[in-house]
Amino acid sequence: MFLALLVLCSRSAASDDGTFPYHRTRVPTDKDIELSYVQLKQPCQKAVAVSGNVGPVANVAACEAKCTAQAAAAPGTGEAACVAVDTDGSSNCYMKSHCEGDAGACYGRAECGYRQAGVPPGPTPAPPAPPVPPSPPGVTLRQAAAKRGVYIGTATNVAGLTNASEPLYKQTEQAQFSLTTAENACKWGPIHPEQDTYTFEDCDYIFAEALAAKQVVRGHNLCWHTENPPWLLNGKWSPTQLTSILQDHIAKVVTHYNTSAYAWDVVNEALDNNGLKPSQPWYPAVPNYIDVAFQAARKAGGPDVKLFYNDYSVEGMSPKSDQMYKLVKSMQDRNIPIDGVGLQFHWGVQGHDSLDSVAQNMARFAALGLEIHITELDIKCTPKNSGQPCTPNLLNLQAQLYADILKTCLAQPKCTSFETWGFTDKHTWIGSASAPLLFDVNYKPKPAFDALVNLLLNGTAQVQQQAI
Ligand code: GLA
Repeated sequence: MFLALLVLCSRSAASDDGTFPYHRTRVPTDKDIELSYVQLKQPCQKAVAVSGNVGPVANVAACEAKCTAQAAAAPGTGEAACVAVDTDGSSNCYMKSHCEGDAGACYGRAECGYRQAGVPPGPTPAPPAPPVPPSPPGVTLRQAAAKRGVYIGTATNVAGLTNASEPLYKQTEQAQFSLTTAENACKWGPIHPEQDTYTFEDCDYIFAEALAAKQVVRGHNLCWHTENPPWLLNGKWSPTQLTSILQDHIAKVVTHYNTSAYAWDVVNEALDNNGLKPSQPWYPAVPNYIDVAFQAARKAGGPDVKLFYNDYSVEGMSPKSDQMYKLVKSMQDRNIPIDGVGLQFHWGVQGHDSLDSVAQNMARFAALGLEIHITELDIKCTPKNSGQPCTPNLLNLQAQLYADILKTCLAQPKCTSFETWGFTDKHTWIGSASAPLLFDVNYKPKPAFDALVNLLLNGTAQVQQQAI
């Protein structure tokens, strides 16, 4: 049966992409659906989206192993066959991979979901949400956030800031936010394209615009396993050489910006549920690469540049956030400098950790004396590529969830920055159809904007705990 489905569906893999029925984040209250992300081992060769069933499995670990093997076996594209729903009642593991960015320079990810026999696919129907009262006219997010002593941030692109035909991008970005991060411009690929060449221009531009607009800048990022340049990935480096390459890059970049960087994500996305995950070219080649990176960053930036570890799916209590706790605690125990953790928060209106779990998780990192930044928040109104409409009710639920997350941050004194990954639905890595941000495609504030401003001003936004 499984084979028959595979053959039948392989012809329409691309068009079936939108039917992938799983959420990215863990749903701890529903053990029938466990999710994870695995990074494709190789950079993508072409921008495509494909999906597939990678076969029957016995449990979540087996599903993850299958997805990892699949990603390794099909570098560049992820050649899964389809997302057909199993009709024979078997338990199957589904994988969807996609490449992001332009062909040639894109990178890949794979989502892995496990569904037990008999559990219907697809999102749970959304509960009704009350409308969000409008926020006071003319009050900006950054004005409101300043009253609560928290940064309100967004990821920003040079293309947006320099687009003369779309002045609202720059106006909105600078008027509304007190913190910014270059969405891509400061990553290794753009900033260090050849071994002896640094191209700081775009990253410099983000810093200069931000400082002119009296924003602080979170640098992102100094060490990651994706968006790395070919010279770094393809060189036959020894562990000793890699260590020096990492130290040199960090010294150069951190020194270049010095204290005009408020903080750096020193290492990005190094973990999975079991500990350090393979991260090209760093791990396993350089087993202590995280220590090396943080030590180099402190040496170059001094004590006034805050050093963060940043990751996804670590918002609530979970095996992966347990690993993050172990990592940073062990760093502290060994006197490796670290000032905070970044919780990315790529969420959806449906299917996410409970806010109680997030509060508990934040509390344990705060107890270590670490700062907590919400670094890449976006909330998909509807699942990516689902074809489902983002209804007014879903927008209100989205607003509630934005406010719930902010409320959780405000209740934790060590949570000092609340940042979204972009701000207009017109420009988002998830795609405009998922409407994940605070302003719509015409830069009009959405209910989520009102809910945040209201909460910041007086704490009376209609906030309820949502754990769908
Ligand atoms: C991750 C990274 C970001 C960005 C997003 C997708 O979360 O940390 O730099 O690439 O994915 O845009």
